[in-house]
Amino acid sequence: MDAKKSFSYEVISESAEFLLQRSPHRPRVGVICGSGLGGLAALLKERHEVPYEEVPNFPVSTVQGHAGKLVLGVLDGVPVVCMQGRFHAYEGYPLWKCAMPVRVMKLMGVEQLIVTNAAGGINEQFNVGDIMIIKDHINMSGFAGDSPLRGRNDERFGPRFPSLNNAYDRDSRALFQAIAEEMGLGPIVKEGVYVMLGGPTYETVAELRLLKLLGADAVGMSTVPEVVVARHCGMRVFAFSLITNACIMDYDTNASANHEEVIETANKRQHQLQELVRRMVAKM
Ligand code: 6GU
Repeated sequence: MDAKKSFSYEVISESAEFLLQRSPHRPRVGVICGSGLGGLAALLKERHEVPYEEVPNFPVSTVQGHAGKLVLGVLDGVPVVCMQGRFHAYEGYPLWKCAMPVRVMKLMGVEQLIVTNAAGGINEQFNVGDIMIIKDHINMSGFAGDSPLRGRNDERFGPRFPSLNNAYDRDSRALFQAIAEEMGLGPIVKEGVYVMLGGPTYETVAELRLLKLLGADAVGMSTVPEVVVARHCGMRVFAFSLITNACIMDYDTNASANHEEVIETANKRQHQLQELVRRMVAKM
């Protein structure tokens, strides 16, 4: 199937209609769960779970630690759809395919998207276990000429040349900060710039030094394609990174980034993250 065809309005509608038939819920909020953060979906009541392989036109997730299903349900009275497991460029998907579920959510009626990820901390003020509210991003794939919006534009989704100012909604960021402080988590909540690289390798020391010079505070392998597509179709976006490991910025160490540390940090924080997201959704 060529890219244009598989990303068409009609194809996306088919997936959305299928999901709406599988559940009585009409979600207003969508949540994308990052590495080790799939437990967020466990919060939903009156759950209807749909494995990705059952959804027409959906890609299938392969990475360890990503369950690969959509969970529809209710959170504090708000109808929500949760992606447990996402699609990454390093799995072999083109960027438009990584972000395709966002358009499905849009056609299901979702107006607000919450995106989460695990990321490496570049900013030296950050500690492992901190939560970084994303205030902006650096789209490295964009620099190289790739974008999930590359190709013919369908105006039914959004404009040819969307702006990305205030892409990470200011009010939502302030709300999250206030909720975190109310929970006594103020000291571990930071704000910063997220940079996405394709992976699957973690960065070299030289690359990390470059990213720091560019103004990035955290680095990961996801989120940007989904946010670009969500903003294109007019969804409100809030995103945060869990800082799962500190980026190694010097050569005189035997330490190195690894997936086990990422999952371990995510597991330790998961209940606090769940509560933050629950309170956030309740106020949206
Ligand atoms: Cl250090 N780098 C990247 N690219 N992704 C990550 C990470 C680092 N830590 C968690 N995810």
